[in-house]
Amino acid sequence: MLFDFGNLRPNQSVLIHAAAGGVGIAATQLCKTVKDVTVFGTASASKHETISEGGVTHPIDYRTKDYVEEVRKISPKGLDVILDPLGGSDTHKAYNLLKPMGKLITYGAANMLAGQKKNLLAVAKNWYHQFSIHTLSLIQGNKSVCGFHLGYLDGEMELITQAMNIIMDLYKEGKIKPRIDSTWHLEQVGDAMRKMQERNNIGKVILTTEPMPEEEKKEEPKKEDKKDDKKKDDKKKDDKKKDDGKKEEKKDDKKKEEPKKEEKKEEEKKEEVKKEEK
Ligand SMILES: NC(=O)c1ccc[n+]([C@@H]2O[C@H](COP(=O)([O-])OP(=O)(O)OC[C@H]3O[C@@H](n4cnc5c(N)ncnc54)[C@H](OP(=O)(O)O)[C@@H]3O)[C@@H](O)[C@H]2O)c1
Repeated sequence: MLFDFGNLRPNQSVLIHAAAGGVGIAATQLCKTVKDVTVFGTASASKHETISEGGVTHPIDYRTKDYVEEVRKISPKGLDVILDPLGGSDTHKAYNLLKPMGKLITYGAANMLAGQKKNLLAVAKNWYHQFSIHTLSLIQGNKSVCGFHLGYLDGEMELITQAMNIIMDLYKEGKIKPRIDSTWHLEQVGDAMRKMQERNNIGKVILTTEPMPEEEKKEEPKKEDKKDDKKKDDKKKDDKKKDDGKKEEKKDDKKKEEPKKEEKKEEEKKEEVKKEEK
């Protein structure tokens, strides 16, 4: 994406979304193999230290800031290359953020995934905002838009082998190093997916096809037991809180009843005085 489509050259600027993800970290490392490339990277604030250490020049917390504004503050003319895994309205923003002769490479639609379950509204919204452009506008804008999907390159062995050879050479030279967040057995695919879905990974989440060792399998139910115990403890704590709450309510009711009793006593006294007067 960066070199074949992006034609990345020294002194250029790149925007990498999801810069702490597996693709984002790899893209940052590849940017750093070219002299004086400025990398803007969007990520949650908690991941900024890691991505800065990895080579992102300007980390941007896209959750609290408008990343377009942040980029324009530093690079008013815009950017040379933008990698877009988001889709929808972010693709429009990316296109507008390109410098003349800039390249937008779109390779995902992360915006369509909102929350744990399928969200048809998010899909519809992104579909509606999907970027499309007339070739005449491209000519007038002096910009290019590219699309990339590795999954549809499976017949292109020569192309992939060439790219892999370049990547392996960079690895051997110590210029790039994969960052692995965690490795999971196939049986644990649910946990691995949960980690990604909760956006807790920094770097790649790896699934291994090697069978899970028996000892680990035995430990898994123990972990589950621990989870169950924790749930039970939490429930007990909740129940206790509820009981305490009820006790407090009763105390309050009692307090409220106290003045009523006093009033009653007063009335009885008055009645007695009246009787005595009679
Ligand atoms: N076309 C292809 O060939 C190809 C190949 C691989 C991957 N992809 C696409 O590339 C994207 C990244 O893949 P990955 O393997 O790097 O994923 P990943 O390691 O799971 O990273 C995802 C990270 O992206 C951030 N993120 C998620 N949704 C976001 C959003 N709406 N806006 C901004 N940041 C968001 C989150 O980090 P924060 O905590 O920072 O939000 C999340 O932890 C995915 O959309 C994937 O489908 C495409």
